[in-house]
Formats: sequence, structure tokens, C-alpha cells
Amino acid sequence: MRVYLVRGVFTDAPEPGKLRCREGYLLVEDGRCCAFYPTLPEALRGVPLLDFSHQLITPGLSDLHLHAPQYSYCGTAMDLELMDWLSRYTYPEEARYADPDYAKSSYQIFVRDLLHSATTRFCAFATLHTDATLELMTQLEAAGLRGYVGKLNMNRNSPDYYREPDTECGMAETVRWLNEWARRDLPNVCPMITPRFTPSVTDDYMEALGHLAAERHLPMQSHLSENRDEIQWVQSLCPDTSFYGETYARYGLFGGDCPTVMAHCIYSGEAEQALMRQNGVYIAHCPTSNENVIAGIAPAAHYLRDGYQIGLGSDVAGGHTLNLFEVMTAAMQVSKLRWRYVDSSESPLTLAEAFYLATTGGGSFFGKVGLFEPGYEFDAVVLDDAALKNNRAFSPAERLERYAYLGGGKTAAKFVAGVRVL
Ligand code: GUN
Ligand code: FE
Repeated sequence: MRVYLVRGVFTDAPEPGKLRCREGYLLVEDGRCCAFYPTLPEALRGVPLLDFSHQLITPGLSDLHLHAPQYSYCGTAMDLELMDWLSRYTYPEEARYADPDYAKSSYQIFVRDLLHSATTRFCAFATLHTDATLELMTQLEAAGLRGYVGKLNMNRNSPDYYREPDTECGMAETVRWLNEWARRDLPNVCPMITPRFTPSVTDDYMEALGHLAAERHLPMQSHLSENRDEIQWVQSLCPDTSFYGETYARYGLFGGDCPTVMAHCIYSGEAEQALMRQNGVYIAHCPTSNENVIAGIAPAAHYLRDGYQIGLGSDVAGGHTLNLFEVMTAAMQVSKLRWRYVDSSESPLTLAEAFYLATTGGGSFFGKVGLFEPGYEFDAVVLDDAALKNNRAFSPAERLERYAYLGGGKTAAKFVAGVRVL
């Protein structure tokens, strides 16, 4: 349908901390929000209507950081800190995606569950394997979801069975991946340059990836300042840099002309923060993962209130859920612990702020996404909170809050760029 109306209780966050709930009709034209009407204008009576009266409709949520191949062990492996967790659980599992059958069937389960979640846009890490990465991209495109996927780059500091032999081989595979993606015609699932993190990538490889990103105008994603041991390790691997972010920035892989998402940024110091803000680097705040691998608590409220680009990431499978409503709840909860135990100058994140991160904040990485405003792509989820009924009435804001905190809600319908996918 090129033009249609959707009826329901539209809830979005035009500014951080501002929740807007409007009951009425949204006109969608060519996949974009066109106009909102509290009552149906006479002139639109003939337009097809999708009637979700009294149901909450939110923008589709944006997951700025997740690892698709790790979904196969999601909900296990919760007993180690980052470095040991990577060696013990992550590398052995990701290595299995060399097998095309294992990759195909694992990604089918991942894509099915992502489709049924509230997420419409994503930045996903895959594995080292070019063909498995293309398989993932093909499945995501077929599901109607939109976002970015990265074939990983790793040529040092992981076991031989899960490492590229050298920079030359890694670059050849990366170029093959990009060319094959272009040949397959996957317009809505695009490549993103993905050095796993600085410890996994030699300087000459990082430099070559910087050139490739610039030549082909590609965005990049990686990890930054997640864990204190990791930061020390990066300092010893790159002694000529003064902060972790510089190990990406010196090769043009830190915002500016190269749209960038950095996961975590828990321990970023002043210089790193200043460069992130100046270059418009997107911060993927991943509170569930930060709890599970005992990384720490990022200053998300500071980032949000002081003008940084920031959204949420599930970081599956460091994070134990694809459900960004649950990640929103964790963001509020860990911000309270940070306020109590770390920094009493930054009051906790509110529901409206956490919701902003999951919608408007993260959505802006993908263009005009994350709001029900004219010109924005119509990404939406219709929430089914029937199972959460209680013996009193709730306002739309309270319904959203309960949907996030209680879990157990369902997705009644889902739209991506105007196309109904559920
Ligand atoms: N740092 C490098 N690789 C990873 C990963 O797979 N997960 C998390 N949380 N941090 C990382
Ligand atoms: Fe991660």
C-alpha cells in the first residue's frame, strides 16, 4: 500500500526526557510519516485504515550493537569477565560459523527472534567468515529488517583457529565480502567496517581498513573502553597513542566523515570523550552486557544530557536479551547504581530518557528514523500488553513503563519503512 492510515496511541520522544503520547491517526505515504490527526478528516475517509485503537504504538527500536553469531549461546556463559569470556566462550562459538550449515541454521533462529522483537534497525557484528556474513545479510534483508552488518577483522591475539593469517588475507576477504554484497543486491542491509577491537587488529590492518572505509564511504563499528584490563592492554599494544579512541581515530575510523558506532565507552577519559563529541561518534550503551561481563557502568546520563550521540545496544550475547525494552529498564537501573555509588552529580535516567535512547537517539544513526514526525520513515511496533492487565487503568506513559519493566508483553504488529513485517 502506498498510502494508508494507522490508528492507535502513538508514543514517541521528540527530545530527551520528553514523552509524547497522541491518540489518533497517522497518515503514511511511501513508507514515511506524513501527518497526524487527532480525529479522522472527512477527506481521508476512503484511505485504507489499519485500526489499532487503544493500543500503544512506539517507533521501532534501534539496536546499535549486537553480535548475531553469539545468539546461539545467549543466556549462558555468565560467569567470567570480558577477556576470559571471549577466550572461553566467544571465540570457540564464533569459529563454528565456518560451517555454512551451522551458520545458516543458527542465523535462521537469530533472524526469526529479531523479527519478533521490537527492533527494526540494527548494527550487527557477524564473524570472520565472509560467506556466513553474506548469509546473515541475505536473511535479514528477506525478513524486511534494516541496518548494518560487519564481517569481522581480526589478525592478532586470538587462537589460530579463529584469526585471519595476516593483513593481506584479511583485506582480500573484506573486499570480496563488499563486492559479493554489491552483487547480491541487498539494499537494506549494508556493510559496516568492523575491526573487532584494537587488541584484535594490527596497526597496518587498521590503517588499511581506514583507507577502505574512506574510499567506499563506509561506516564503522567497534568496541571502546569497556574494561580496565582491555584499556591497559591497548595502551601497551599502541604505546604511541594517548587514549584508546586514538587507535581508531589515527586511521580515520572515529566519526567525522566515517559514521561510527563505539560500544560501551564506560571508562572514556576527557580527551576521548571530547573527540567522540566533536566527531559525532555514536555511543552504544549496553547496560545488560556491562552487568553480565562485569564491565562497569557507563556514564550514559552524562552522555545523553551533554550532547553526545548515544543509543542502546543489546550486545547479545554479553547481553542476555534482544529485547530492547528490557535493555531500557537495565539502563535506568544501572544509572541509579552509578548515581548512588559512583557519581552523585548525574541523576538517574528517566523512563522518557531511556525510551529516547532506544528510539530517537539510536534511530538517528539510520537517517530520519525513530519518531512519528512528517518525513520520518514509518518504523513502528504495536505493543500488545493485554497479558499485563491489572485492576486499574494506566496512562499511556504508565503502560509503556510496565511494558518495559514487567516483560511478558508481545509485539502485535511491526512496520519497517512503511512495510508491515509482522
Ligand atoms: N570486545 C571484543 N569483542 C567483544 C565481544 O564479542 N563482546 C563484548 N562485549 N566485548 C568485546
Ligand atoms: Fe560487543
